Amino acid sequence: MKQEQTSVEIFNRMAKHYDLFNLLSSFGIEKIWRAKLKTIIVPKGNILDFGCGAGEFSKIIKHDNCNFIGLDPSLKMLKKGKSTNNFLKYANGYGENLPFKKDSFDYIISGFVFRNLKDAGKSLSEIKRVLKPKGKLIILDFIWPENPVFSAFFTLYLKYVLPFFYMVLGGNRSYIKYFYSSIKNFYSKKEFGLLLKKHGFDNIKYLNLPFNLARYFICIKGY
Ligand SMILES: C[S@@+](CC[C@H](N)C(=O)[O-])C[C@H]1O[C@@H](n2cnc3c(N)ncnc32)[C@H](O)[C@@H]1O
Repeated sequence: MKQEQTSVEIFNRMAKHYDLFNLLSSFGIEKIWRAKLKTIIVPKGNILDFGCGAGEFSKIIKHDNCNFIGLDPSLKMLKKGKSTNNFLKYANGYGENLPFKKDSFDYIISGFVFRNLKDAGKSLSEIKRVLKPKGKLIILDFIWPENPVFSAFFTLYLKYVLPFFYMVLGGNRSYIKYFYSSIKNFYSKKEFGLLLKKHGFDNIKYLNLPFNLARYFICIKGY
């Protein structure tokens, strides 16, 4: 659980300034990436925001006819969510052990969470268990760019620009390397597609995003 503990500590610590950190450190680009969710999903039924943080990802598709539940291990992120995005019901817990019954959700969405998980495979098995048959899983995360020019820029950005904003907003020096390593060591597009397949997801589609630094993975619970 070491990486999970670290990531929860980091998000507890940055919860207060999380939105501002995202906005400044991405120069607003993450808002464009997140907004694409609207083009992927027609919200209905029960929707789980996996690793919801303060509920910023669900907010994009907020809809009165849906039942939104957010799960996150960081109590401070949940606290922030309760005060800013109170259309969600929040649950405290880890993605590797979801506190929900089998076949509960029509959709599970997850924004920028998977690279923080110690065991993405175990979480995918849990997600499959709690999704309804043919339910849809939508994951957005950073994927290291294959293009060498983008890769070089991204390295500089993660090593110097992101830590700058993190420290300005009260971050802890000992966690600076976390952002770089969590993204650098995450799966490639192909590897993550294979992992989804291995854990019983079908119809896997990808949506590339501006600057090719992040991607949506869209898939359906198989049999
Ligand atoms: C970058 S934030 C993203 C928050 C939110 N999804 C968003 O789009 O703003 C990553 C979130 O993953 C959560 N997280 C870390 N480890 C987790 C785990 N094992 N299971 C579920 N969520 C986890 C963190 O607490 C944090 O809130």
